Amino acid sequence: TSKPAYRIASIPGDGIGTEVVAAAIQVVEKLAKTLETFQIEFTHIPWGTAYYKQNGRYVPEDCLDILRKFDAGLFGAVGAPDVPDHISLWGLLLAIRGPLQLYANVRPVRTFPGTKCPLNTATDGIDWLLVRENSEGEYSGQGGRSHIGQPWEAATEVAMFTRVGIERIMRFAFETAQSRPKKQLTVVTKSNSMRNGMVLWDEVAAQVARGFPDVKWDKMLVDAMTVRMVANPQSIDTIVGTNLHMDILSDLAAALAGSIGVAPSSNLDPTRKNPSLFEPVHGSAFDITGKGIANPVATFWSAAEMLSWVGEKDAAAKLMLCVENVCSAGILTPDLGGTANTQGVVDAVIAEIEKLK
Ligand code: NAI
Ligand code: MG
Repeated sequence: TSKPAYRIASIPGDGIGTEVVAAAIQVVEKLAKTLETFQIEFTHIPWGTAYYKQNGRYVPEDCLDILRKFDAGLFGAVGAPDVPDHISLWGLLLAIRGPLQLYANVRPVRTFPGTKCPLNTATDGIDWLLVRENSEGEYSGQGGRSHIGQPWEAATEVAMFTRVGIERIMRFAFETAQSRPKKQLTVVTKSNSMRNGMVLWDEVAAQVARGFPDVKWDKMLVDAMTVRMVANPQSIDTIVGTNLHMDILSDLAAALAGSIGVAPSSNLDPTRKNPSLFEPVHGSAFDITGKGIANPVATFWSAAEMLSWVGEKDAAAKLMLCVENVCSAGILTPDLGGTANTQGVVDAVIAEIEKLK
């Protein structure tokens, strides 16, 4: 019998990235062995700050060719206390996202068993899907510095919006909204004060919207959106916004849902020409690195999104059910108020997977 077999690039990176990716690999390998419906092979890729210190760069020159051999990637985090964050982020993550055209960053946000939504307005918790433009906008890397070291030193950071870039993320966002029960999309913008790029953003949104008559959509300035997320969370379903706006709104969303320790994200190439990359929203968390208490749930959830993307929707749903059962049972890491450590959560999820037999 030919079971589908997936090849996954495992890029743990730095800090707790190595701990949570190792945790997720244990769980996914167990799932594959137990269900016997698919095979999965993780290949360790050592890119990160240790690699940087040895080689002078975060990734080798042929990193994209290396990644293209895989069906998907599971990434941990990048960032170290003794390297400036813009060096590590551009060195690894942004060196991959842009060139591989992983232009859709998707972040499901919902109140998870064991986490508590801090909003008393959200009666049933939160269930949102955030779509972030992941390839241009404010993070295009355009700009420069002049008169360095002078009192009149100047720096520019140019946001770049293209019709192609906006159109493809809007199409993806409308399709995603259409696939959810509420069929509702909020387009986040800032076209009052940013009168060029954001106006093009609005125009393209309206054009794309015409192809989706069954999706209810509205437009919201980003500052007003923060208020709506807190004051009227039930009025929101799917959200799309620029690279910078959604970077910020998605951290807020994760906090409103309960914890950054459970928040997953997908960096997708919706055309499927390139492998997509799945990662927890959180960073390398220096303060708890090496203590063995990092919450692995965000990476479990990211791995489930990965399984779903490569075609194993059923296995992904089963994995999430196992994770939810463990959290409902109160087996939680300290960030969620529990006393379990990372391996304790792994063992509990593995015990749940055993029951699937
Ligand atoms: P962070 O997400 O690493 O940590 C923020 C706080 O949340 C810390 O108190 C940390 O202990 C806690 N936390 C995060 N994940 C957790 C988990 N799984 N379980 C329990 N607690 C958790 O963000 P921070 O401190 O701003 O950044 C640290 C480094 O990570 C920096 O170098 C930054 O550039 C990098 N970073 C990398 C990201 C990535 O690789 N995608 C994303 C965010 C930050
Ligand atoms: Mg962020």
